This record gives sequence, C-alpha cells and structure tokens, in this order.
Amino acid sequence: MAILVTGGLGFVGSHFVWAASRVGREVVVLDDGSAGTDPPMPAGVTTIRGDIGDKALVRDLLRRASVDAIVHFAGKIQVGESVTNPALYLDVNLVRALALLDCAREASVLRMVFSSTAAVYGEPEVVPIVEDAPKRPVNAYGASKLAFEYALEAYGKAYGLKWAALRYFNAAGAQEDGLLREMHEPETHLIPLVIDAALGRRPPLTLFGTDYPTRDGTCERDYIHVSDLVSAHLRAIALLEQGRDVGPLNLGTGRGSTVREVIDAASRILGKPVPFNVGARRAGDPSALVASPARAEQVLGWRAVRSDLPTLIEDALRSRR
Ligand code: UFG
Repeated sequence: MAILVTGGLGFVGSHFVWAASRVGREVVVLDDGSAGTDPPMPAGVTTIRGDIGDKALVRDLLRRASVDAIVHFAGKIQVGESVTNPALYLDVNLVRALALLDCAREASVLRMVFSSTAAVYGEPEVVPIVEDAPKRPVNAYGASKLAFEYALEAYGKAYGLKWAALRYFNAAGAQEDGLLREMHEPETHLIPLVIDAALGRRPPLTLFGTDYPTRDGTCERDYIHVSDLVSAHLRAIALLEQGRDVGPLNLGTGRGSTVREVIDAASRILGKPVPFNVGARRAGDPSALVASPARAEQVLGWRAVRSDLPTLIEDALRSRR
C-alpha cells in the first residue's frame, strides 16, 4: 500500500520522500510545483503534478495508487505573505486541504499526517510551549493551519480518521549527503540567509530587532533538523497504521537559540564573519518560540538527535556548497 505525499517536492516533503523510500515504503507524490523547487526523487517514486483541491484528480489517484495513508505537506508557508494575502492562505491551506481530506474520506483512506506549525500558538504566554497552550494565531498562516487541525479532529470523531498534526518549530538543516537542501523562493529563513550572506552570495543579513525580552535582545527559536522531523513523521504513520490516535504534537528540541547565537555559530563554522546590519523588528515575530517536545517524545518514542546548532548549520552548509 502506498503513502500519498502532498508537497513532496518541497523542503520537508522531499526529505520525507527519501526517508520513506529508504525504509521500503511505496510513495506517490502530488505537488503543483508552486514552490519552484525540483529536487531529485528516488527511483520508483511517481510524481503527479497537480492541485490538492482538484477532486477528480485526487479521487483517481487514491483509487489507482491504492493509497492507505496521506502525509500532507503541501501548503503556503510565508508568515508575512499570509498577512497581506490571507485569501490565498485560507484557500490553499484550508479550502483545498478540505477537498483533499474529503476525497480521502470518500475513498476510506483514514490515516493522515499533517504538517502543522508553531504559528498556531501566536505569542505564547509560557515557554516551553505545550500542546494544550492557548492557540491564538496572529496571522492567517497560523489560523489556516489551526483550522485544518480542527477539521482533522472532527473527521476523527465522525468518520474514524486517525490523524497526527505535527507542529513544526523552526525546520532547518538538510539531508546528510547534501543531495537535498532547504530552498524557498523567495528565501526568508534565517539559516540559509546567514550562510549565503557569509559566502557572499547575498547581501548582508538584516537582523530583525535587538530589543526583545530575551537573553541577548534577539528572537529565540527552536531549530529542528529536517531529518528529525522526518523520523517523527515515519513514527507517526506507524502508530496510525496500528490503529492508534496521535493528535497534535510539537516537534522541537526544548532548547532555543537566539538570532545572534545562530550568527555566531555560523561564523565559527565558516571561519569568517557573517555580515549583518541591525534592522527594525519584523511584524508578527514572537520574541521566543520554544517547544516542549515532551508529548512527542512520549507518544512517538522519538527525540531530536541532529538538531544541535552546529550540526544544523554544518548540514545546511554542505547542501549549499
Ligand atoms: N530573521 C532575521 N533576519 C532575516 C530572517 C530572519 O533576523 O533575514 C530572524 C527572525 O526575525 C526570527 C528568526 O530569524 O526571529 C527566525 O526567522 P525565520 O524566518 O527563519 O523563521 P520564523 O521563526 O519566522 O518562522 C518559522 C517558520 C514558519 C512558522 C514560524 C512559527 O518558518 O513557518 O516559525 O511562528 F510559522
């Protein structure tokens, strides 16, 4: 039986496809190519270019590929864009995702692992953040992801869907062999921008704000290696296949790094300074987002093992050489 991977050409999705193929899973990718990335795919993986909201296409695909689980990565991911264009985020991340979910129900494909986000929490009152913490998203990106989590919950109760909503903190790093890389168009994520600035491929980094209530005044984030994310997905699928419920889980390390700490670590690893200018705060940036991974560790028997800052930066660097 196959796993349908939506968004399999994206950053985390492509890493998942390789990992799932390596453990012998049959994978079918559905991706509309909108991320503008074209990563290599393992032999034997079928890639269908199309939209998750195209019900005729999805129905046909679920039937023909004998899919028994869906890992749903496809979606819009830029926080800033979601503030200026919420219609797009609600359309892709909610309306089209609901079409996919309903096709799955019709076809009795009742297992789904969903890429959710720390953005469902908004500005947290307490860190580390636990799954039951208040969900007050401050942008349409977080709101659209949270709304789809509620849909999963309702489908679980009404139709017996087994689901996991994996709330990523700051995904980073790259596969160890350097074959896949973090790439977004446009790139807005800190670690790739830091590396490219140090290598002279981009202008100096703008550090967004030094007046946050953190240990050095810059924002604190919980960076999690894409390989650790992927291993959590594989464990979640295994549990769903055993008929277990998983629900929402934070995927992070429980330790945060500030922007200055990322810059300093990258300078040490690259042996050269990272050029940067201090700029104003970026709208919508919470001061600190750090996961409590306790529930994920307990439910999945999982722990992040490659997510220390030097490893994250070295792996990201190898993929960008
Ligand atoms: N930063 C800079 N300069 C830059 C880019 C980023 O100083 O040029 C800072 C940001 O202000 C932030 C930190 O680096 O404090 C990390 O920023 P990223 O853009 O790499 O990541 P975010 O924390 O904004 O976003 C991530 C995910 C989102 C998710 C969000 C949770 O990319 O998908 O965490 O709020 F929604």
